[in-house]
Amino acid sequence: MARLLIEHSGPLEGRVTINGAKNAVLPIMAACLLTDEPSTIEGVPHVTDVLLMIEILRHLGLQVEFTDDHLVITPGRFAGQVAPYELVSRMRASICVLGPLLSRQGRAQVSMPGGCVIGPRPIDLHLKGLQALGATLTVEHGYVVAVADELRGAKVHLSGAFGSSVLATANVMMAATLAKGTTVIEHAAYEPEITDLAQFLIRMGARIEGHGGSVIRVEGVQRLHGAEHRIIPDRIEAGTWMIAAAMTQGDLTIEGARADHLGAVIDKLIEAGVSVEKLSGAIRVRGMRCPQAVDVTTLAFPGFPTDLQAQIVALMSIAQGSSLLTERVYPERFMHIAELNRMGAQITREGASAIVKGVGRLSGAPVVASDLRASAALVLAGLVAQHQTELEGIEHLERGYDHFPEKLAGLGAQIRRVE
Ligand code: EPU
Repeated sequence: MARLLIEHSGPLEGRVTINGAKNAVLPIMAACLLTDEPSTIEGVPHVTDVLLMIEILRHLGLQVEFTDDHLVITPGRFAGQVAPYELVSRMRASICVLGPLLSRQGRAQVSMPGGCVIGPRPIDLHLKGLQALGATLTVEHGYVVAVADELRGAKVHLSGAFGSSVLATANVMMAATLAKGTTVIEHAAYEPEITDLAQFLIRMGARIEGHGGSVIRVEGVQRLHGAEHRIIPDRIEAGTWMIAAAMTQGDLTIEGARADHLGAVIDKLIEAGVSVEKLSGAIRVRGMRCPQAVDVTTLAFPGFPTDLQAQIVALMSIAQGSSLLTERVYPERFMHIAELNRMGAQITREGASAIVKGVGRLSGAPVVASDLRASAALVLAGLVAQHQTELEGIEHLERGYDHFPEKLAGLGAQIRRVE
């Protein structure tokens, strides 16, 4: 089992370049199922979720080459319509092959993704959306089976108990590109990753309007062609570096970070007394002194992202004062609390909120990462804790952060991976 050994490190300093967004590239890879021509995607991060999506596409008969940060995806003859349990159970995002497969082949069979440590993650909105386009959906032997002789445009409302759904919006938008007539997606997700997907689909010949807003209109076309596309920078990786600079009282210039994707994060860091400077093509973050406690509520974009909740909890655990962090997207996403408390943090959970009492210092301990973002939070905590932190479960970190320990070491952190 690989582990990370993290020592108390000084301020992180220097320049760091962020990679393309994992959550943009995964649905864009799935969109390649919508054409029989090759597509090239640039700026692709080397993370295991991308490798898993490559496996799924290959399983479905596509040829995929991954060199440097380029993916070339060439749809050959479809080898099937089944995304099997062994692959889907390892990555929930694989549900986004459902819409494109159904649209191209009239049938798709995708394993139900199942539970997840960040809480229940239903797929009712995906199914509701595809049903509205004319698909018949059943669940058989743990698989969602979607069948449609023809998909027809329709009005689809995608709001659930916790707001809209990013991947349900992606699935319906992809399926609608080849449907007959016009689809109107109401209460669509606004996330920049949805806008990036829409832009890729438009390059493929799709007719889409309104992406980036709450109503997306898709005019079905007969066929799509291959396209070339560069993935947007990963706003969650950028936000993680911003919090890392604040936590270590460092000075980081985060190249590629887009302020227009990080408004809520920038506001909260400034409120906490961190210096944030918007530069051309980069953001510079300086943690001048011990951060002040601030309250944060996670929300869909443009609100504060749930994917940075664990990291901001880590920051607040060493802030001056007490803060209230409320999760409005995944009310159960708090597995990191117990591990941070093992490092001396004082965090209590009340329903969908964490009450964090800032402490003077954390102390290194053996800790286990439960999921991707929790693992990033524990690494950041390890950098400011006294003595050594030993982090297990780093396969989670590797699902979404490209060479994170190496990048950290390049900025002055004392961190190493051991087998
Ligand atoms: N939801 C439903 N029904 C559905 C789908 C979702 O009730 O059919 C609920 C979820 O349970 C949740 C809320 O709606 O409470 C939002 O979930 P959403 O569907 O938007 O999440 P997702 O599309 O499955 C993506 C990201 C997640 C990120 C969320 C929210 C990808 C591959 N994943 O998931 O990223 O947390 O949006 O922004 O894009 C991560 O990168 O660590 C990660 C978990």
